[in-house]
This record gives sequence, C-alpha cells and structure tokens, in this order.
Amino acid sequence: MTSTDTPDLPPNTTPDATRPASRHGLWIGAAVVLVGVAMIAALLAVGHSHQRALIAAYTLVAPTDVAASGVVARAVIGADGDCPDVIGVDATGPQRITMTKRVPAPTAAPVFADVQICTTPLPVGLSEASVDGETIPAAMPTQVDELAIFADSGCRVDDKRIQDCNDPDGWPLGQIAQRIADARPDLILDPGDYYYREIACPDDQQDLCGGTVAPVPGYPFDESGAGWLQDAIMPMQPMFSVAPMAMLRGNHEDCGRAGNGFFLFFDPRPGTEGICAPVERDGKLRAAAPQTTPTWSFDLPLRDARTLRVAMVDSAYGTDKEVTPWVEQQRVSYQQAADLTVPEPGVESWLVTHRPLFALISNRNLPDDDPLAEPWSSDGQMLAAYGLLDHYEMILASHNHYLQSVQIPGQPGALIMGNGGALLDPAEDYAIPEFGPLAKADGTPLVDGVEPYPNATHMWTRVQYGYALASPGDAPGSWTIEQYEFNGTPLGTCTVADRTINCS
Ligand SMILES: [Fe+2]
Repeated sequence: MTSTDTPDLPPNTTPDATRPASRHGLWIGAAVVLVGVAMIAALLAVGHSHQRALIAAYTLVAPTDVAASGVVARAVIGADGDCPDVIGVDATGPQRITMTKRVPAPTAAPVFADVQICTTPLPVGLSEASVDGETIPAAMPTQVDELAIFADSGCRVDDKRIQDCNDPDGWPLGQIAQRIADARPDLILDPGDYYYREIACPDDQQDLCGGTVAPVPGYPFDESGAGWLQDAIMPMQPMFSVAPMAMLRGNHEDCGRAGNGFFLFFDPRPGTEGICAPVERDGKLRAAAPQTTPTWSFDLPLRDARTLRVAMVDSAYGTDKEVTPWVEQQRVSYQQAADLTVPEPGVESWLVTHRPLFALISNRNLPDDDPLAEPWSSDGQMLAAYGLLDHYEMILASHNHYLQSVQIPGQPGALIMGNGGALLDPAEDYAIPEFGPLAKADGTPLVDGVEPYPNATHMWTRVQYGYALASPGDAPGSWTIEQYEFNGTPLGTCTVADRTINCS
C-alpha cells in the first residue's frame, strides 16, 4: 500500500501488471470494519515527507468528451507527496501518464487535508495500467458479458438509526465488494448513496459504531476525507482492480451531506470539484445551493453487435413525496437523458437515476398524516420524467433500501437496488396499492392535468443485502439479472425483455 516515487522505467520493461487482481481480498474489508478509524489514521500517517502513501487507485467510466477512451484513472494518496504517474502499456510498450491533483473547494479543503486525489484521462489503446504497482483497469471493455450492480452502501449512523458497522455481516459492503471482485464483471455500476455516517457514534452504541469518523464541527456537511475512506473507499478496495466503475450521485451526496467527496473521488468530469463548495455568509459556512449536474451517458458494446447506452441522471435533490418547484429543474436532466438516447439501430438504452421513478415503499414508512397516503415513492421524480421515458428498456435506481422490480404497463421495467450495505428498510407490507403512480389515494390525479399511470402488473420485493450480475440475453434489449445476497446465496432472477421486467 505504500510506495515512494516510482523509479525511472527501464527501457522495454513492462511494469508489474501480473499481480493477481483483488489481492487485498476480504481481509481489507473486514479489517477496516474492525479497526475503523485507527487503521485509517495509520494509513494516512504512513510515509515521511516526500514519501507518498498510495491509499487506493481505480478507474472510472467517463463521458467520451472527458476521455476519448471512456475511462479516467484516479489515485487517492495521503497528505504528503506528489501524484504518481499511471504506467500504461499499449502496442508500443510502456509509457508514463501524468496525473494532476483534483483540488477540493477552498472552503471544504480543511476536512480533506489528509488525502489528495489524483486524476488523468487514460489514452485510447491501453492494454494494461498501474499506479505505484497497483493494477487498475486500463480501458473500457471491448464486450460486456457481465455487469455488476450495487448501491446504497455506507453504514448508517444518524440520530434515528445506528447500524452495526463493526460487524461484517451487519454492514456487508466489504463482502459485497469482494463477491463482485470474485465474479470479475466487465463493468461495475453504482446508482449512488455512499456516505451514511452523519453523527459521531453515541457513547452507548460503541459496540455498534465505535470508530466511526464523525462530522467535523463548523462545516455544513457530514463528510471528510477520512470518512470517505471508511465508508466507501476502503471497503470497496477489492473491486478496484477488476473493472471500470460508473458512479452516480445519490441524495447522501447532496452538498449538505457528502457532495464534496463525491465530486472529488467518484465524479469523472473535470471542473465538478467545486460544485459543493460551502459558501460563507454572516461569518458562517453554509452548504452550496441545490443543483443538478448535467446528464451524461456511456456506451457498452454487447454480444451480437448490440450496444447498451446508459444515461446517468443526477437526482441527488428533490423530495420523495411532495411535488415541489424542484420538479422543473429536475425535468431538465430527464430531458437531457432523452436527448442522449434518441433511438439508433443496434442501440438499447437504460436510464439510471438514484431516486426511483416507479417504486413501492412499505406502508410502515408512511407517516399517519401523509396527505398522499399512498405507498408510491418519488412522485417528484415521476413528474419530472413524465412523458420522457420512451427510449428505455429499463430504469435502474436505488435509494429505497431493498431489492424491488416494478412493471407499469407501457413503461420501461423498473429495477430498484438500494440493498448494497446501508441499513435495510422494514421487511414487510409491500403490496401493489389500489391505484397507479401519480394518483391520490382516491384514484384522482395527484396533479391537475397529469393522467396517473396505470397500476403495476408486477411487483417483487426482497429486503436482503446483496448485489446483482447482469448479462445480455439472446434478443436485442433482453437481459438476465441474477440477484445475490451478500454471502453469494442466490436471491432471485430478473429478466428484461420487450421493456418488461420480471423477477422471481
Ligand atoms: Fe438515497
């Protein structure tokens, strides 16, 4: 994990790309869970001045106007030292690729002072890549046969609920990451929500969350560099050498929670680092105002000359139930997604958005005074995307902490996977209500002039931690999505065909 500056590359020498992938293994995930803040502190302290401690290196899927290859490399290092180079190998041999620092906003920088994030677009044509001897994925896959999906992954520590962060089965992100690494998928897709530690671990809950990195007083958000290492980077380590990761922002990464870190670590686009810069007003730091980032997309080559186009919508803001003026701003991102997915021969599209469009929540989640009193979630998102969903075979979301599939007639099948490690929702009372989405409890339109959707014809819910491996089926647009529990036990199989999802 530690290295000094890489020595000059001898001529005709291939850098070390032969080490087995995911060698950190489950050990890292379990160790981080158990040792928590002490281990992270030790990691951050490794090295003397001029020495660089490599904490993690990984590859992100990026829009092709950011990197023609479709991938950027990231390295996370300690406070000291310069960015490492990426050693890339193409047909002409090894080459050095310079990384630049991805600098946090000045008003957020003090809480990220113990880490530095380095980045570079990877050139087209690499067959191998490494950072300080750690292998990272060098390119987008030439054919995607298996795609891993998981989301909503941090350990919940807030003033309502405390998760058992110190038990690898109570917060199974490390095990999920290891299972995904073992499956060696061609790509990893995460619809968001990484950071869940929003308060210091209470004195009387130390057995559950002792070691939690607490929010730093005086800052209008929960996050810090050390917190990101604990809740996301270290437990995800096993996956990093395996496949490029496409990461989306969730509501836990809005600017009042953990947005600065999301943009530093996981957003692939240059210039987004400062979006969540806290602003000073009346001598106090305040969170940046709500905003979305532009929708982007990437293409995955599949078997039989098929291409999957994935549109990534930032739905960090908005509410789940109330219809607010935010709907108009959010609609811009769904319109951008529709524009990016205009039908082309051989291309099939998925919409990925953190907040679900068609999802059922447990009746137990409904407050008694909810004026809507119906269990469809994310009315605001459904309104924002209303009439803009014709291009998709499937909608993938997370946010609700369960695994669910929902089919609304005439609409793309909806898969909701918010079961990637964060404390699960209640495990009962999921049932199709009397009327479809955007209807009030009496069946009348929720919003004047907006026809409610027809009711769901299919709904399947499992409240279990896990992840999925998706493979293209025989016909264009068809997929098989195998669902697994965090320990690898099969949890169900979803099929997508003709824009229709079925899980059992
Ligand atoms: Fe969420």
